[in-house]
Amino acid sequence: MSLVGVTPSTRVLAIETSCDETAAAIVEGGRRVISSVVSTQSDLHARFGGVVPEIASRAHVELINDVVAQALVEGGMRLRDVGAIAATHGPGLAGALLVGVSAAKALALASGRPYHGVHHHESHLYAAMLTDPTLEPPLITLIVSGGHTLLVAMDDHGRYRILGRTVDDAAGEAFDKVARLLGLGYPGGPIIDHLAREGDPTAIAFTRPMLDPREPDNLDFSFSGLKTAVVLHRRQHPDQDVADVAASFQACVVDVLATKLLRAARQARIGTIVLGGGVAANSALRARVAADAERASLRAVIPDRGLCTDNAAMVAAAAWHRLRFEPPTGLAGGATPNLALPGTDRADFSGPAVSTRQG
Ligand code: KG4
Ligand code: ZN
Repeated sequence: MSLVGVTPSTRVLAIETSCDETAAAIVEGGRRVISSVVSTQSDLHARFGGVVPEIASRAHVELINDVVAQALVEGGMRLRDVGAIAATHGPGLAGALLVGVSAAKALALASGRPYHGVHHHESHLYAAMLTDPTLEPPLITLIVSGGHTLLVAMDDHGRYRILGRTVDDAAGEAFDKVARLLGLGYPGGPIIDHLAREGDPTAIAFTRPMLDPREPDNLDFSFSGLKTAVVLHRRQHPDQDVADVAASFQACVVDVLATKLLRAARQARIGTIVLGGGVAANSALRARVAADAERASLRAVIPDRGLCTDNAAMVAAAAWHRLRFEPPTGLAGGATPNLALPGTDRADFSGPAVSTRQG
């Protein structure tokens, strides 16, 4: 199959359904958002304390047509005005991914436009390019989400090196689990973020996991032990203000994430750092990374909050950049729940299935 020949005026219509957001967007030239619609299902999953895959798939089926139609209407466009159709084809929940991939392929078939499948982490990385259209590799990106925590060096478009990853829970998973264990509700990230503003981040000195001074080069993460430490602390000090617990937990996660992001930039000698993924919407993390970057004379690009959590604009951006140098996936393409980041051979997906998020 040959290249599509995308240009700065090529618009990509993209769909994202890897987890519990049903989203569609149109982006021009990989950088300019024309429309972006996100329908979140978090209300449907809240009473279960985590994403239930079957409920997610069913909700995607119910929502997808309306969400795509709304993206076209808000963009003032018809299907014929877009040059390519894209969808997240992994990693993610199998049934959920299939809904978006099938819808995108149906639209491609109906319109005669090419279909391209996009890696979910790669699209999180491209969100920063929508916030700062001048952003170019090389850069170091920290992708922190419900199912993944990755430090990636992007040497060029489509060229990645995984520098670090979580060995157990993802950062977002830790927020969600701790919120659940503290009886705060779901999804935990935004709730803890909000509550932490009223708490003292120095109230409890939780041990910073994987920040051992004897391992100054370590770029991996671990959040499962921290979750246990929070639970034990709660049991031993039931009267302590829960806002202090939330703020201290958040301070610990933020400290580890920001320290390793800067460490990675220093080790790789790369001067630009980028955040991506739902946890990048966290106020404390955003403030800390911005301050650290300024102190270290690094350029930090932190996507607008709505581009951090799952959305389809980032998928369209990633697809446009990929279609510049690779042929479209085509209608034979499927969905791969544990898809490895392109150019690397390792799957980096640790969830979010209901069993891993609720543990
Ligand atoms: O990228 P995302 O929308 O979906 C996945 O790909 O997983 O990330 C969702 C995760 C959830 O764990 C959620 O609790 C977390 O991002 N999150 C946050 C915040 N907003 C969302 N975590 C901390 N602070 C936030 N403000
Ligand atoms: Zn995501």
